Order: sequence, then structure tokens, then C-alpha cells
Amino acid sequence: MQLSVQIKHLKRFLKQEVSHSKRILDIGCGDGSTALYLISSLHCAVQGIDLDAGRIHRANEKFKRKARRGFAVCSILEAQDMRRTFFEKPFNAVIITHSFHHLANIGKVLRKAKSVLANDGKIIIAEYTNSFGETMDDCPRFAARKIKLLARNAGFKKLKKCNLSHGLFAIVGYKN
Ligand SMILES: C[S@@+](CC[C@H](N)C(=O)[O-])C[C@H]1O[C@@H](n2cnc3c(N)ncnc32)[C@H](O)[C@@H]1O
Repeated sequence: MQLSVQIKHLKRFLKQEVSHSKRILDIGCGDGSTALYLISSLHCAVQGIDLDAGRIHRANEKFKRKARRGFAVCSILEAQDMRRTFFEKPFNAVIITHSFHHLANIGKVLRKAKSVLANDGKIIIAEYTNSFGETMDDCPRFAARKIKLLARNAGFKKLKKCNLSHGLFAIVGYKN
């Protein structure tokens, strides 16, 4: 299956899970493709963070190109260094799409992600499965049960696995 198909399934899933006009934190936002979708189609307010300055620059340039109904801004920040005070208000959702396997100190990142969520907020972690071969993106894979365990240890509740398409799943968990 091609990456473009996976991306289509991910967007459809985010549409269901996130809905309109929500405040979203995108951890490991990369060049802002997901954030662009969230502001264009769902009119969300997105803050993205990523440690790669080049990607952050490309993301912010992308958001400037056209007027959008939503709003997004991305900043250079390592996920493990997040602070509640760095953000103006709590988020309705934290998303980590195809970035979880890159993160250092995942337990710390998840605890911080929980701390920046509103009381009814949720985390959405999307990753490829083993069946979507590592040669496709040269990245290691995480088993869904391992992600659930790490999220549970960080205090997330009502964890569920959602199969988005062949080779792509998401773990959703709630702050409360
Ligand atoms: C495969 S890209 C995914 C980008 C985007 N989320 C998407 O779905 O297209 C992974 C991103 O995670 C970022 N990243 C890796 N470790 C990170 C960390 N500790 N803190 C913040 N971002 C990180 C990388 O710089 C990269 O942009």
C-alpha cells in the first residue's frame, strides 16, 4: 500500500477523532502537513513542535501561503522539554503521528503531553505496523500493546487501539 493511501486514512480518522475548531498540539509535527490539514479542513488551532529547525521553517512558510479558517504555528522544541507554561491554554488533543518511534524519553514526553491537555482531552498516537515494512520509511516499529502500556504508565485512561488501514493503527487515550 502506498504512503498517500495511508495519509488519506489518517486524515479521515483525525476528522472523526478531533472534529472541528479544537486546540491541538502536534508533537514531532515535521513540515506541518498534518497541521495544514487540521487548519484547512477542520479549522483547528494547532501548535506544532519539532526539534528540526528546517522542518519548522517549512511548516510555518506553508501556513502563510493561503488564508485558512484555522490557525497554526510551529516551534523548535524537543518534546521532552515541553512545559505547561510554554502554551497559552490547555489542548483538546495531543497528536503524535509517525513520530512516536523517534522520541527520546517517551515516558517523560507522555507525562508532559498529559499535563498540557484539558480535563476532557485525549492523546492520539499513530504508527505503522510491522506489516508496513520498515523499508518503506526506514523507521523502527512499535507494537500497539507497547504504546498502550507506555501511555497507561503515563496515566492515560480508556486506551483503545484503532486500525486505520492495512499497516496503520492509532492508540487513543484520555486524560481522565
Ligand atoms: C517521520 S516525521 C513525522 C512528521 C509528521 N508528524 C507527519 O506525520 O508527517 C518525525 C518527526 O519527529 C521529529 N522528532 C524526532 N524526535 C523528536 C523530539 N524528541 N522532539 C520533537 N520532535 C522530534 C523529527 O524531527 C521529525 O520531524
